[in-house]
Amino acid sequence: MSKDKLQTIRDAAPAVLPSLLMCDFGDLKTEVQRLEAAGTRVLHLDVMDGHFVPNLTYGMPIIEGLRKHTDMPLDVHLMISDPLKYAKPMVDAGADLLTFHVEAVEDAQSVAQQIRDLGVAVGVALNPGTPMEKLDGCLDAVDMALVMSVEAGFGGQSFNPIALERLRTLRASHPDLLLEIDGGINEQTIGQAAAAGCDLFVVGSAIFGKQDYAAAIGSLDQAISAAGKAGEVSGS
Ligand code: DX5
Ligand code: ZN
Repeated sequence: MSKDKLQTIRDAAPAVLPSLLMCDFGDLKTEVQRLEAAGTRVLHLDVMDGHFVPNLTYGMPIIEGLRKHTDMPLDVHLMISDPLKYAKPMVDAGADLLTFHVEAVEDAQSVAQQIRDLGVAVGVALNPGTPMEKLDGCLDAVDMALVMSVEAGFGGQSFNPIALERLRTLRASHPDLLLEIDGGINEQTIGQAAAAGCDLFVVGSAIFGKQDYAAAIGSLDQAISAAGKAGEVSGS
C-alpha cells in the first residue's frame, strides 16, 4: 500500500505540502477538505515530542483521525528522540512516508532499513546546524532527504539559505532521490528552492496565515514553475 503512495508523492512533485502545525485543530476535517479543494496532493504532519525539540504537538491519534478523512499520502516528519519506538504505531495509524532526524539516531542506515521493513517509504532529515557528512552512508537507504531550512521545532521562523547549497549538492550526487525542504518557505523563497533541485516544499505560515488556501497554494505553485522556466531559459 505505502509503496503506491510513494509513487503518488513522486507523481505529485514538484508539490507544495501544507504542514499541519498552524491549522485549526478544532476542525481538522474541514481543514483537510479545504486543502484538498485547494489542490493539495500530499499532507505534511509535524510530530514533536517536547524532547528532541522543545515544542510538543501530536501523535498517532491525530494521524489516525486524519487518515479517515483523506486518501492523500501522509508525510510524517518525526521530530522525536526515539523514532524507532514510534515507527510501527505511526505506520499502523496511517503514515505513508516516515522521516526521522539524523541527529536523533546513532545508526541512520539501520534506522532507515528498519522503517522500510515496516512497508512504508522513509526519509532522513537534517537540521541547518548539522554537518552534511552526518548523512554519509544512509542516503542510499532512504527514499527522501528532508533539508531543513530552519532548526526543527517551530513554524514561522525565517529561511536559512544554507538549505539551497545543500539541495544543489544532494541533487548532483543523488539525481533520483526525492528532496524536500521545510521551514520559512513562502513566495519569496520557494523559487530558489525549486531552482536548487527541490521536489517537495513544506509550507506552514505562508498558507495558514492566509484566508484563501487556493490562492496561497496557487501563487506558490506559480513561483515553482516560474523558477523551472527560468532554469530552462538559462540552461538553453
Ligand atoms: C518546523 C516544521 C515545519 C513548519 C513549517 O519544525 O517542521 O513543517 O511547520 O512552517 P513555516 O512554513 O511557517 O516555516
Ligand atoms: Zn516539518
